[in-house]
Amino acid sequence: MINAAVFASGEGTNAENLFKFFANDPRIKIKLVVTNKDTAGIIARAEKYKKNIQIISKDSLENYADQFIEFLKLEKIDLIILAGFLLKIPEQFIKAFPNRIINIHPALLPKYGGKGMYGSRVHKAVLDNKETESGITIHLVNEEYDKGEIILQAKCPVLTEDTIETLAQKIQKLEHEHFPKAIEKFL
Ligand code: GAR
Repeated sequence: MINAAVFASGEGTNAENLFKFFANDPRIKIKLVVTNKDTAGIIARAEKYKKNIQIISKDSLENYADQFIEFLKLEKIDLIILAGFLLKIPEQFIKAFPNRIINIHPALLPKYGGKGMYGSRVHKAVLDNKETESGITIHLVNEEYDKGEIILQAKCPVLTEDTIETLAQKIQKLEHEHFPKAIEKFL
């Protein structure tokens, strides 16, 4: 049985989708939810699914990374899933969990990745550049923002009438469909 921690900073729809998908799966238990925002929608979703929640500030994540890793190891966490986690993961995590940190990004990397590229900012950039397609990327996390090995990409068309909201809906649909399946490859 794999013990996973889901890190999320926002609404947490992807996290909730994973809680549902893996609810009775004997291969994986989502044991812990980590967020850096005490007002994030993820908190209510995690409570609904009776998940243990840890709130960690940006400063603590950066300055007490080793202690936090020790805590995760004590909890026997062996897979970290970033589901809309907007802080950079400190290098110590990447060393402590080699090839065991997975991220989802709402665009077709290597385009539209990097620092500051998250959520609707990504969709705005895609629309501003008049792209005809966008999509999602699920990848391993390494030391550089959005540059780890790609596990899965899925595409959707971008139409001239698309807005940030309609594109976000298409992307969310792809994320909810593919993220659990990509995680299954690690089980
Ligand atoms: C998702 O679209 C995810 O791809 C994105 O945040 C959203 C979280 O939505 N992640 C990034 O932009 C990372 N750079 P959710 O809180 O509803 O799951």
